[in-house]
Amino acid sequence: MSARVDVKLVNLTIDGNPVRVPEGTLLVEAAKAVTTDIPVYCYHPKLGPAGLCRICLVDIEKAPKLQIACNTTVTEGMVVHTYGEKVDAGRKAVMEFLLLNHPLDCPICDKGGECDLQDYSMAYGASASRLADPKSSKPKAIDLGPTIVLDDERCIVCQRCSRFDEIITNERSLVVKDRGQRDVIATASGEPYRSNFSGNVTELCPVGALTSKTYRFKSRPWDNARTHTTCTQCSVGCALNVDERYGAITRTMSDEDDAVSDGWLCDRGRYNIAFYGDARRITTPMLRTPTGEFVQIGWDDAIERWAKHLRDAVASDGADSIAAIGGGRLLNEEILVLAQTMRALGVTHLDWRAGRQRQASPGAYGGTYVDLETADLVVAIGRPPSQTAPVLDLRIRKAVRNGARYVTVGSHPSDSFVVSSHLARVSDLAAHVESATRVAFVWDGIDAAVGAQAAELAESLAARGTHVSTFVASEQSNARGAEALGMSPQNGSADSDGIFAAARAGKLRVLSLLGVNPMLHHPLGASAIRDAIERTDFVVCTELFLTETAKLAHLVLPARAAFEKSGHVYDLAGDVLAVNAGHTAPEGTLADADMLVALAAELDVTIAAPDSLHAQASAAIVATATAFGDPKFARASDATSETIGSKGDARNGVRIAIAANIFSGGGSVYFDERLAALRPSPTATFARETAATLGVHAGDLVDLVAGERTLVGLVAIITDTAPSGVVTVIDGLPDAPANEFADGETVALANVRSAERALTAGAV
Ligand code: SF4
Ligand code: SF4
Ligand code: FES
Repeated sequence: MSARVDVKLVNLTIDGNPVRVPEGTLLVEAAKAVTTDIPVYCYHPKLGPAGLCRICLVDIEKAPKLQIACNTTVTEGMVVHTYGEKVDAGRKAVMEFLLLNHPLDCPICDKGGECDLQDYSMAYGASASRLADPKSSKPKAIDLGPTIVLDDERCIVCQRCSRFDEIITNERSLVVKDRGQRDVIATASGEPYRSNFSGNVTELCPVGALTSKTYRFKSRPWDNARTHTTCTQCSVGCALNVDERYGAITRTMSDEDDAVSDGWLCDRGRYNIAFYGDARRITTPMLRTPTGEFVQIGWDDAIERWAKHLRDAVASDGADSIAAIGGGRLLNEEILVLAQTMRALGVTHLDWRAGRQRQASPGAYGGTYVDLETADLVVAIGRPPSQTAPVLDLRIRKAVRNGARYVTVGSHPSDSFVVSSHLARVSDLAAHVESATRVAFVWDGIDAAVGAQAAELAESLAARGTHVSTFVASEQSNARGAEALGMSPQNGSADSDGIFAAARAGKLRVLSLLGVNPMLHHPLGASAIRDAIERTDFVVCTELFLTETAKLAHLVLPARAAFEKSGHVYDLAGDVLAVNAGHTAPEGTLADADMLVALAAELDVTIAAPDSLHAQASAAIVATATAFGDPKFARASDATSETIGSKGDARNGVRIAIAANIFSGGGSVYFDERLAALRPSPTATFARETAATLGVHAGDLVDLVAGERTLVGLVAIITDTAPSGVVTVIDGLPDAPANEFADGETVALANVRSAERALTAGAV
């Protein structure tokens, strides 16, 4: 039962209209009730007032002079005029001041057509400048960092960018340097501006001062065709506006009213778009010949072959000789068709888990974004959400702004700048949860034993009246949908570990891999997966590119990416979100759903009618509830985290922690050349004292070894935030695949080469 809060309302008049708003409302917001458009530059609803630009001047009766609407709170009986001669004159003076040194290079400015300076200049500005002296010039096209270009001459110093960096991300790298007409936006450190949320500043900038490198000079806004859809790069599911011109995606923009993203995007979701038009996309089904070469074949032939191998396998060895892995990157409707088609054949060995994650459902509690924002304690267990679900991490930072403590648990300290404490074990949480009344757990779904411990803690907290919410930040964007829609092993059927083990034992005839790349991501490691694929009669892979796994398959089917198909996904907060096709797919590709519908028809199996898929999928989602930390997923090999983070024996070796990074992965990011500067290079991160014990210095090249398995040429990074006795490496890097290693196993350091020697030898 929610407590009743009495809100005092205030009556005022705006442009002759009676308005009633809660006490404390800013005038600029109150005016929205009568749809009056008060111009703003420095004000933004999510950043609050700054009172810097003065363009929002309004006339308040009885006030001696014009007041700024963005920093004036409403009072009872206030009478406000937002237009008129006096207001226009005030705004005209502000515009003249703002345009004094502005280059007015609208014809070559990317913001042209959607620029507030341009618009308000037309509305309030003078037609000519009275400035007799030359304009002061500032640098143009400054390379601010890997994603952003700054044109200082255009900057009106509204400080939205630096306030975003301070208030929303808490990273505080952007500042205003110098004063008066020499003031410029820069990083405090002088280093390049690096943030996983950098693209947001280009949307916040009301002028053309901050622009994205990926969009500069690509299009005029009026030439873009826009589609509203959902980002499928991670399990958050932020709303996206996708702009396209002449068949090419030019940019993606946030939706400032989106309840999921709170109006923000991370740079992965925003910038990972060039792969759509990459020439390396597969556009024809490809069949491996007995000599190992791929030959192009037609779609009918491809589907017939897939169906024939499935039919023959059922006839000769039974449905147990067939398995399918996928769904975590598919849409709900596609997952449903996949599961229904396979189950119609009697196939039960189905799993979505092609990586390290074991569980996607938050179970009995679940949670909403309001739960997260209003928690007084947020606990992130396992991989930091800043890398697995970046915009969720912004919510955590918001919760911290609201007064929450943020505690991380496991071997991966968060890089989100707002962590109060880092703990090695779930059991260490006892003291932290003691005084909390609203606790939000964010788990990475990887270590089932740790998930079970967290579930137990959540249950005991709920039993004593603590409000509990739980979220799972998945490795694959729609893992939760895949788990809910039947792509999980049931009644003793094999999970992906069991499927690959059966394949290696020569027991599998047909393996279908849909949108997954286990060669790079499955914890069994590339050599075991290769062995499994090579021992299976027929392996089908639906993919966008010839990934490490697709290269080994017998049949590769060219798939469509998220902006090229329509359907829904099931996000980590339990919302079913629409994905809308806004980009024409390359000719020759098919959505996984279309391939599977054709396969079902060829096999003569009955699946749901295409127009009922969404309703069926949604009903199935509603009916599904998997317990958070359900021990049925726990395996002995999962129970490693209790020891991760404890002090390892650094003389003989260190424990390896396999970390996530938003720009790792062998699929869309790897095949997006424009993201090259953002992709992480293979690194090995050590705590200072661990590095000292091991004799490793920052910049050294190190190799990690466990038995026959090696990771070669990792650049050593030394930090104060890494756990002692642990070396952290990044998962999902094609040049240094870490999936040969189990998270938490002990590895030895071999062949440490000093940065200087490595440079001399030309190794870096
Ligand atoms: S760069 Fe843009 S957002 Fe930043 S202060 Fe200048 S005008 Fe404002
Ligand atoms: S947080 Fe996830 S869903 Fe949101 S923009 Fe980033 S990758 Fe896309
Ligand atoms: S918007 Fe009000 S002072 Fe800038």
